[in-house]
Amino acid sequence: MKSSTQNIKVYDTEKIFELNPDMKIKMSYIGENKLPLMVIDDFYKNPELVRDLLISSPAPSITSSSNGGYPGKRVALQSFTPLKFQQAYSDILRKYFNFNFHLEHVGSTFLGNIFDGSGPANKINNSTPHADPGAIASIVYLNYDDEEVGGTSVYKHRESELMFMPLSKFHLEWWVGRKASLQNRRVSKVREEEDEKFKYYRHKIFAKNSDPKIYRDTHILESNDEWEILATVESKFNRLAGYVGGTLHSAMIDFEKLSKQSHKRINQVIFMNQKQMKRR
Ligand SMILES: [Fe+2]
Repeated sequence: MKSSTQNIKVYDTEKIFELNPDMKIKMSYIGENKLPLMVIDDFYKNPELVRDLLISSPAPSITSSSNGGYPGKRVALQSFTPLKFQQAYSDILRKYFNFNFHLEHVGSTFLGNIFDGSGPANKINNSTPHADPGAIASIVYLNYDDEEVGGTSVYKHRESELMFMPLSKFHLEWWVGRKASLQNRRVSKVREEEDEKFKYYRHKIFAKNSDPKIYRDTHILESNDEWEILATVESKFNRLAGYVGGTLHSAMIDFEKLSKQSHKRINQVIFMNQKQMKRR
């Protein structure tokens, strides 16, 4: 039977990504550097629609590096997150992270993860804590509360005492500005010190992430000699966790367990960047 061009599926994205006016927003400030961590419960008004969109969307059979190296699939639907959603979420971030600029979702692309623990070992590159791109990285947990999948933890690297590693100029400048104001010191002096420290430890902290041999046995789920868990956000249906992208964190996925469970770990990831002003 020939497929009909009349059957194109159209999604009401404004309805799917409508924010819940009764969401509950909570900020925590972690460790001596008081790194902000935002947790929002009941984030979406219609979370079932977001969940359904994710699990009914096509995902490529080839696992690309774009899924963060986790075993499973990533769904990417360009132009699916409407401006209305981006503006509303940007307003929340401006207020709670004290930004004096607006943010936007790059490519307006809906990104969703569907992880099942069954991927090839050599594709894993996230067995130790890592940093994310994006000024603010957020994850929205879309598993129901009876589907055990694990949340997300924020870590401190014991030797360096770092809980942040910049991946962009924005991350560096945000970190430096914040530290200088917390310690009441000159920005240029703090930048010099921090830059040197970041350069020295960058490889030490991230090198393991690209070593395929340390897959699974060492995917971190608790504090160890090298890392200390500072905070854990538990997975909860329709809960969002948001942090400045350079914050060192890791998904609390027990891959062995997950590969034997009847459900997968599903969530939306949102990377918001400073909104670029259009040149005329
Ligand atoms: Fe991440």
